[in-house]
Amino acid sequence: MEGIKLEKVTYTYPNGYTAVEDVSLTISSGESVAIIGQNGAGKTTMVKLFNALLRPSSGSIIVDGVDIAGLTTAETSKKVGYVFQNPGDQIFNNTVYNEIAYSLRYNKLPEKEVEQLVMDAAELCGIVKYLAVNPYDLPFSLRKFVTIAVVIVLGSDYVILDEPTAGQDYNGLNRQKKIIEELIKRKRKVITITHDMEFVTENFKRIIVMANKKVVASGSKEDIFWNFDILEKSSLKQPIIAQLARQLGLPGRIITIEDFVDQMK
Ligand SMILES: Nc1ncnc2c1ncn2[C@@H]1O[C@H](COP(=O)(O)OP(=O)(O)OP(=O)(O)O)[C@@H](O)[C@H]1O
Ligand SMILES: [Mg+2]
Repeated sequence: MEGIKLEKVTYTYPNGYTAVEDVSLTISSGESVAIIGQNGAGKTTMVKLFNALLRPSSGSIIVDGVDIAGLTTAETSKKVGYVFQNPGDQIFNNTVYNEIAYSLRYNKLPEKEVEQLVMDAAELCGIVKYLAVNPYDLPFSLRKFVTIAVVIVLGSDYVILDEPTAGQDYNGLNRQKKIIEELIKRKRKVITITHDMEFVTENFKRIIVMANKKVVASGSKEDIFWNFDILEKSSLKQPIIAQLARQLGLPGRIITIEDFVDQMK
């Protein structure tokens, strides 16, 4: 079966702290999803399990029908690419170009193909003019795009973006939106963790909500953002536009500005 499937997955860190507890979840292929939830809910820990950066303490993870317990992290990364929440945990090369090219050269791709793939990813991420720069000389917001480019060239079926919106200005957010749209066009499945509810409603149809080590809900954005039980349980707020629609007593489950405008007409 295509998709990422977690069966009763628990993860306990070496210090004894359990960050993910008894999670069963299916993310079907063909859908792009946002994962939301408060700080410390366990989002990053859970997605690191998807590509074997962490191994479950119990339970199993099946990616496109294969139990990844039998695969190395390098093998799993070809299927599931992960962009770290903190670029500093990911970047280790002396130039942006070398950082993006690293996995391609490691896999012994001809230098001509390496260059094509690096240029494609750098253009998509808006970092062509920084290719010769040391990634650590770039501001955090641009460094994040370097780490996204690294995962774009992997060509993995699944791309996990851990808080790509953090620290981004308006142009950065637009660029993120464009990258996600392009990846979806290229038939890659995008899983994005974010605290930006407007970004969620603009870019994703399905949402997974985590609270206190568990997945507490999964469904359409209307199902999630108009379910006050779930919102309370996970300490999340409705997007501003939904709050406004509710205060005005507008009918329907308004989530986006377009919904709102339609209703006002
Ligand atoms: N290496 C570690 N050792 C022990 N505990 C950890 C470790 N990494 C994370 N934790 C703890 O696990 C819990 C879940 O952390 P995680 O980073 O998965 O949360 P998150 O939902 O991604 O939060 P945020 O939105 O702040 O990124 C937190 O309480 C965190 O302190
Ligand atoms: Mg996190």
